[in-house]
Amino acid sequence: MEQYIRRCFQLARLGAGHVSPNPLVGAVLMHADRIIGEGWHRRYGEAHAEVNAVQAVAGADRHLIPHSTLFCNLEPCFHFGKTPPCVDLILKEKVSRVVVSNTDPNPLVAGQSIQKLRAAGVEVLAGILEAEGRYLNRAFFTWIEKKRPHIILKWAQSTDCYLGRQGERTAITGPLAQRLVHRRRSEADAILVGTTTALVDNPRLDNRLYFGKSPLRIALDFAGKIPPTAHLLDDSRLTWIIGPEHSETYRKTQFLAPPETAGWIPWLIEKLTQEKHAILLVEGGANVLQQFLEAGLWDEILRLENPQFLHRGVPAPALPKEAVLVETGRIGDDCFRVFLKRV
Ligand SMILES: NC(=O)c1ccc[n+]([C@@H]2O[C@H](COP(=O)([O-])OP(=O)(O)OC[C@H]3O[C@@H](n4cnc5c(N)ncnc54)[C@H](OP(=O)(O)O)[C@@H]3O)[C@@H](O)[C@H]2O)c1
Repeated sequence: MEQYIRRCFQLARLGAGHVSPNPLVGAVLMHADRIIGEGWHRRYGEAHAEVNAVQAVAGADRHLIPHSTLFCNLEPCFHFGKTPPCVDLILKEKVSRVVVSNTDPNPLVAGQSIQKLRAAGVEVLAGILEAEGRYLNRAFFTWIEKKRPHIILKWAQSTDCYLGRQGERTAITGPLAQRLVHRRRSEADAILVGTTTALVDNPRLDNRLYFGKSPLRIALDFAGKIPPTAHLLDDSRLTWIIGPEHSETYRKTQFLAPPETAGWIPWLIEKLTQEKHAILLVEGGANVLQQFLEAGLWDEILRLENPQFLHRGVPAPALPKEAVLVETGRIGDDCFRVFLKRV
């Protein structure tokens, strides 16, 4: 049974970067040890995984659907959103058994689909590989439970815990780790950097080393220091500059002013929430990362570590005591670690 839920996880992951703020969902229709249909939620506003799995069933196998088990990593939806409720599709197709990993935390669903299926005589098993399912959909769980974006603090550090040389763009990690970062960028809805990072690194904040979309980019510029020649002001993509307006004309660059600088993080989080940007990647520097850590406004830390020594430079933030290591691995010469906040 677990292997089919794992297959749902694999399929679900294919939607990363395309479905936010919806969850990542995969579905498998299985008949007598044979997968007769499978699918995933491909794009926000488009068909859900269950619909795609049913549609993938070949004409010759359609009569098997009522005798099949539907595996799905998230409870099927109960409500009319951009698409009709999947629970009704399952009942219409007369699927006899449903196995899910997570019940949907969305109050519009929250176990109601499982109840409706059981009341209609469908056998339902829930909670299979629940922790893995929650990890896969950690951004969605934050979005629903905390009603704000999932905040990932990302940084790369040398063995002696520096982010870079002072005032100098410093490559810390190798090309494979950079590709991993670009993948995480493609899965995020927005990326934020501080003023010094914008000035020293002149970042593009795109995902040119991976596939998919580049997220909304955001830079702090309270004192209006970022020059019009900076990549961040090339007006190539939607960009929020938090600071005073420039005299140049921009089409895709917006200058925003928080009510007061002291409260800019909650203000930004609120603005991102209103605009349905559900995953925020904070890429430094140290000062900005520290402000998020001190505000307790973070959900995940992605830390890349390179074996080089810098001996001096911008110190990396210390890990907060609530950080729990959940994933680690090697990528080229670098090591990556993912920490989640202990709840
Ligand atoms: N290794 C990595 O993963 C990584 C990632 C990013 C950056 N970096 C490196 O880190 C260094 C930059 O880090 P950093 O800590 O010096 O700077 P930073 O976090 O990039 O930017 C901090 C600056 O942003 C402005 N700022 C932030 N909050 C503010 C507030 N509430 N009110 C007013 N202004 C505010 C201030 O700029 P002003 O004081 O100028 O107005 C502040 O000095 C660079 O060397 C960069 O290369 C490394």
